[in-house]
Amino acid sequence: MSVGIEHLYCYAPQFALPLTALAEARGVAPEKLTQGLGVQAMAVPPACEDVVTLAATAAARCLRAAGVDPREVGLLVVATETGVDHSKPVGIFVHELVGVGPHCRVYEVKHACYGGTAALMTAADWVRAKRTAPRRALVVAADIARYALGSPGEPTQGAGAVAMLVGPDPRALFLSEESGVHAANVYDFWRPLDRREALVDGKFSVECYLDALTGAFRSYRELERPQLAAGEGLVDRLARVLYHTPFPKMAAKAHRRLLEVDRGGVTDEAYATSYRDLVAPGLEAVAQIGNTYTASLYVCLAASLEDDGRRLAGRRIGLFSYGSGCCAEFFTGIVPAGAASLGPIGVRESIERRTLVDVPTYERLLAEGERGGTPPTGFTGDFVFRGIRDDRRVYERVREVLAA
Ligand code: HMG
Repeated sequence: MSVGIEHLYCYAPQFALPLTALAEARGVAPEKLTQGLGVQAMAVPPACEDVVTLAATAAARCLRAAGVDPREVGLLVVATETGVDHSKPVGIFVHELVGVGPHCRVYEVKHACYGGTAALMTAADWVRAKRTAPRRALVVAADIARYALGSPGEPTQGAGAVAMLVGPDPRALFLSEESGVHAANVYDFWRPLDRREALVDGKFSVECYLDALTGAFRSYRELERPQLAAGEGLVDRLARVLYHTPFPKMAAKAHRRLLEVDRGGVTDEAYATSYRDLVAPGLEAVAQIGNTYTASLYVCLAASLEDDGRRLAGRRIGLFSYGSGCCAEFFTGIVPAGAASLGPIGVRESIERRTLVDVPTYERLLAEGERGGTPPTGFTGDFVFRGIRDDRRVYERVREVLAA
């Protein structure tokens, strides 16, 4: 049975901080952030937005765009590292807000940024396992990336969610059944239970990412080796390579490593051409939204399909997922002909409708972060986090809040 992503939808919150403003406030050269890291802006949520509202907005819009009744969903998995409770999963709030029926498995998964891929692969296997009747899963990857103010990680924050409907009739991406994985216990990035901001050994995390890419890609390449002609690289068969992108320069470093492993070495010129054709076109959105942890790779996928669905239709693309700690996976998929007619899938809309803020406003938003409240003017989400009452989190639909 062919299985894959039937539809997907991306949502990023309404505010964004331009990185040139952050550079000025922190006394660093703006080019260090805009060229050295490759980030132009990062999304910042208002107080009434948390990981539940991000996930639910992406999920509701995904189902609406796909024309699928929420009660058809038999498995709902939310991947996040911004959980709101040690016991109650983000998914069960999404389940209620989006109107999924009672006959559905609902849970949350975590392995840093790899969680989105873990959920996607589990959902695909779940769809494949039932051969007698087609069934559909909803996977949502959602996160708010936070580092301490003034730390090297600060310019690599961001927030957003991507919802993916997984089933037997993919219009966005057929998923290959094979993949290459790599796991190792490393302390490159983590967030202890009592902390709001992540701790990170930044330079080491870049090395861990590249080592994991080498391991996962080697293992995937080994599977395909019998089909490759002498001297042919696996990358030569791909129309695009998408990476987990904490900041765009990371994808550039990753692509150089991928070519080195694939071809046993690469000239600067060959690398530059390959990067320009296969990687750069998928990075514009993450350069504007920032790191969305579990959703990052899928923001790149959504942006590529939204911008280039017609051109990519019928072509095979590579995807690399990395989660600190660490686990990584390299896999491929074929973009179906239907991708040309997917229509808007939220990336452009999120960027076009946003409001740019200055540094004092960004610092205020961070301090107020996820306290709950009323939607600010121009709020772009569908759901609002109202706050905590009697130790319980309260969510409402925006239209109900505005009508009250
Ligand atoms: P840093 O110390 O600020 O930066 O930390 P740097 O000194 O390494 O400089 C960055 C780049 O800017 C360098 O380029 C400089 O040369 C360049 P490179 O040598 O790397 O190509 N540069 C300039 N360029 C132009 N004009 C200038 C200029 N000055 C310098 N004037 C670091 C960078 C990434 C370590 C930091 O931002 C950080 O700690 N980020 C968070 C961790 C992270 O994103 N790690 C990535 C891999 S791990 C991962 O992806 C998982 C993750 O998403 C979490 C999860 O799994 O849940 C993070």
